[in-house]
Amino acid sequence: MNPDNNNQSQSDSPPSRPPDATRKHQRIRLEAVSKRWGESTAVDGIGFDVAPGEFVILLGPSGCGKSTTLRMIAGLERASAGRIHIGERDVTHLPPGDRGISMVFQSYALFPHLSVADNIVFGLRSRKVPRAEQRERLARVAELVDLEAYLERKPAQLSGGQRQRVALARAIISEHPICLMDEPLSNLDARLRGEMRREIKALQRRLGMTVIYVTHDQVEAMSMGDRVILMQDGRIVQDGTPDELYDRPATAFAAGFIGSPAMNLVTLAAAADGAVIEGEPHCSVAPHEAKGHRLGVRPEEIRLLPADAAGVPAEVIDAEYLGADSIVRLRVGSEQLRARLDGKPSVAPGAACRLQWRREAAHFFAADDGRRLAIAGHDLAAPPGRHRFESHAPHPGGPAATTSPVQDREARASSNPAGNDSPGVNR
Ligand SMILES: Nc1ncnc2c1ncn2[C@@H]1O[C@H](COP(=O)(O)OP(=O)(O)O)[C@@H](O)[C@H]1O
Ligand SMILES: [Mg+2]
Repeated sequence: MNPDNNNQSQSDSPPSRPPDATRKHQRIRLEAVSKRWGESTAVDGIGFDVAPGEFVILLGPSGCGKSTTLRMIAGLERASAGRIHIGERDVTHLPPGDRGISMVFQSYALFPHLSVADNIVFGLRSRKVPRAEQRERLARVAELVDLEAYLERKPAQLSGGQRQRVALARAIISEHPICLMDEPLSNLDARLRGEMRREIKALQRRLGMTVIYVTHDQVEAMSMGDRVILMQDGRIVQDGTPDELYDRPATAFAAGFIGSPAMNLVTLAAAADGAVIEGEPHCSVAPHEAKGHRLGVRPEEIRLLPADAAGVPAEVIDAEYLGADSIVRLRVGSEQLRARLDGKPSVAPGAACRLQWRREAAHFFAADDGRRLAIAGHDLAAPPGRHRFESHAPHPGGPAATTSPVQDREARASSNPAGNDSPGVNR
């Protein structure tokens, strides 16, 4: 499809922040929108509001209904139920060309036989924008996306990143205040993706565009979005700022989807003085009511301490060194956890250690439907014996002084068991 087949007359103003009067046209509202194909439901009664100038991410695994949602907003698919508003207008049954939006696809959708310049102005030409104005807008937009030197080339003579810039330029030149993007960076290599993320975000701010951006990549979502709408099986799991999704995931699914490596999720069992990690009966990590449910702790929140410190007894499985940090796999009872530690900690496979995390870093999710539970975890840094922390037999391998599985700075941290916020530890 030609993503810029809009034939509405457009303002002559240069691409810059639209005045407040036109900003209200940038509001997008979905009410109980569904899409069914025969028996199968791709999108199941979703609703959300996008404010003018907002950068909203539709995030979720493949097949959860992101593209279908975007295509219904664009008018490329008919909604089976619900209403879609853009600005003051109900656009549910309007054709794509009457919705005042531009679209950028993963596939770029460029015409191979046209030059870069002709690809960019294609939509203006079909809208019969005067030639002089076309040239003027082309010059401005080419500068904006850094394509001035490539205007005479054909798409085949461009790199992937440059082709994606052409697709962006074509959306920007239309001067539609709303731009819908469907996984626009997934054909690019990792380094270029990082660059383009910053470019797109900077352009969006500068032009004051309203953007709905589809991705399955949580890094794109967290780094670009003012707001992230996380979807699963055609429904919205959570709708919030990136920090809200990271700090207070609404479900176990959301907890596992945001963050890399994913949040540790372990099953809790009953013990005398509270709930313990399954198979590790000594250190209760939460009150009784948490038993049978799941505990979530992010790898970057886990501190590794010597075996004689307070905390949850664990054994090192292995460590993966990544440069700035390392991912250490740990066995706790019958569960496995991952910890992200700064630098290259000297941890030996098989070494015994203790784990701690901040009280606020413990999340709890229901065993049945994964919903977030309002339970507060125990304070793991509390010295043994002072309260619920149980004494237990020392781990084989002797005292921590000779077999400490962790670096000096971890050991220093352990001499200050309450010092959860000691600088340089784990974060
Ligand atoms: N044209 C279609 N006909 C039938 N089923 C479709 C069609 N397009 C998408 N689907 C189905 O709808 C669901 C959501 O698809 P999609 O919105 O493309 O997911 P996402 O973009 O999140 O990967 C999937 O199960 C997909 O197979
Ligand atoms: Mg898709």
